[in-house]
Amino acid sequence: MRTFLIAGNWKMNAAPGAAKKLAEDIAAKWKEESFHSEALLCPPFISIPAVAAAFEGTQFKVGAQNVHTENDGAYTGEISTSMLKDAGCEYVIVGHSERREYFHESDELVAQKTKKVIDDGLKPIVCVGEVLSERKEGIHQEVVKRQVDAVLTHLGNDESDTLVIAYEPVWAIGTGETATPQQAQEMHQFIRDLITQHWGETSSEKVRILYGGSMKPDNAGELLSQKDVDGGLIGGASLSAGSYSEILKISETI
Ligand code: 13P
Repeated sequence: MRTFLIAGNWKMNAAPGAAKKLAEDIAAKWKEESFHSEALLCPPFISIPAVAAAFEGTQFKVGAQNVHTENDGAYTGEISTSMLKDAGCEYVIVGHSERREYFHESDELVAQKTKKVIDDGLKPIVCVGEVLSERKEGIHQEVVKRQVDAVLTHLGNDESDTLVIAYEPVWAIGTGETATPQQAQEMHQFIRDLITQHWGETSSEKVRILYGGSMKPDNAGELLSQKDVDGGLIGGASLSAGSYSEILKISETI
């Protein structure tokens, strides 16, 4: 059985002071209780140390929202895998749709980042997903296949233990509109079938596929109950200690 990964992406929110408070509030809700799911929060780079410190001695993990492909050097404004590890990160979100759209990250670059993250001992959460016009045109599977194939081809061998994929339909991000559980399951199964084609079934059964896009306490139960939904990548709702904890709690009941 795959362990649920309940991941929060704080995006460009929560400066160190606010991030520390939010992390402490989340941890405080689980002071008396342990959980089976894996719980991860990804703050902005500058807030990672504060969150890592707040989570020390708890089950909560910290991750980053982006990374560069080089080890070090003249790359103004960028951050490396070794810096993230040093700061206490275990996971890195790669190829979020906001990075693909606003920072022109290509499938090839996302694949290179994914490989770098795995090679350097971190775990990537690779985001894929179609925009609304692509779904309306009926080419959503084609788009996601292109994104997933680019990554799997680049890895070249079986990395199923560390790879996490997040299906985030762009039309459902920050819009309040969620994919129906059926739409999510259909795409998650499609992604798992693609992985099977590359690595075989034993490996594809190990890869966790998260759903992201307006996941909230009131829709998390149905989404997480789908056979191939192995967790959530949560934006807005992860900025509230109550909502994030509620989703984590729901994952414990499934
Ligand atoms: P929302 O949950 O705010 O829709 O954001 C989803 C997302 O982009 C997580 O990476």
